[in-house]
Amino acid sequence: MPYQLLLTSLENGVFTITINRPDKLNALNTRVIEELSTAVEEVYHNPEIKSAIITGAGSKSFVAGADISEFLQLDALQGEELARRGQQMVFDKIENAPKPVIAAVNGFALGGGCELALACHFIIASETARFGQPEVNLGLIPGYGGTQRLVQVAGKGRAMQLIMTGELINAADAMQYGIVNSVVKPEELLDKAKEILSVINSKAPLAISRVIASINAFDHTQAGYDYEIKKFGECFGTEDLKEGATAFLEKRKPNFKGK
Ligand code: COA
Repeated sequence: MPYQLLLTSLENGVFTITINRPDKLNALNTRVIEELSTAVEEVYHNPEIKSAIITGAGSKSFVAGADISEFLQLDALQGEELARRGQQMVFDKIENAPKPVIAAVNGFALGGGCELALACHFIIASETARFGQPEVNLGLIPGYGGTQRLVQVAGKGRAMQLIMTGELINAADAMQYGIVNSVVKPEELLDKAKEILSVINSKAPLAISRVIASINAFDHTQAGYDYEIKKFGECFGTEDLKEGATAFLEKRKPNFKGK
């Protein structure tokens, strides 16, 4: 399958998906979401793939969020659609994949990037990783499941603080928060991910897939995700989001008016 914005490789049953837009810090534009959806379908249906790793190209960023330059033309309904499509096409599909999909976070995992890592079954990070949900800086909220998945791993208070302040945390703090399973040197990141997957790949595949489904069944309801999609969409009806996204693209501070 030819991809424009992903690099993929298959080695010893491990399918590595690398988001390859380093000049834009691997931001998730429409094309990346579509290609990720196709790549995750490969994980489901290619019998040679036993497990997968999602990572970002370059040393700076895993994924620095959804592509802000695509926000300005969207109204509230289209904003809702952006979140719903992304959740259904990629994030939910990763979470419910019948084979392990892990995130190897090599730099910034912000907004949709943090949500992408959280949708994976678990996260390995390099010492250079930074995690955050900075949507409030744009007049927005997370829309790819962040309000739901972050609270599951980090707890309510930490999720509230991270999402309301928009602050970034380093890999060590992310590990302490329960977001990340292990932190390694940047050059060891992919080897560490492959080492863990080689253990998992040696187990019974049908048992592994039932582990994933059973753990996901813990206290998992769709209602919270649907509520997030609605609230995310509503932000696109505000002047503040237009101001926030424009300010980011113009590299200046936003002037929010609460409208
Ligand atoms: N959407 C679109 N473009 C993005 C982006 C995003 N989420 N994140 C980074 N980029 C682009 C920048 O616009 C810049 O493009 P340019 O070179 O054409 O101007 C390029 O990627 C490099 O980013 P830059 O901001 O110059 O790098 P930096 O090292 O100064 O800052 C960040 C890095 C991650 C702190 C900063 O890029 C940032 O805050 N990104 C947005 C994070 C965010 O709000 N994510 C949630 C979106 S909902």
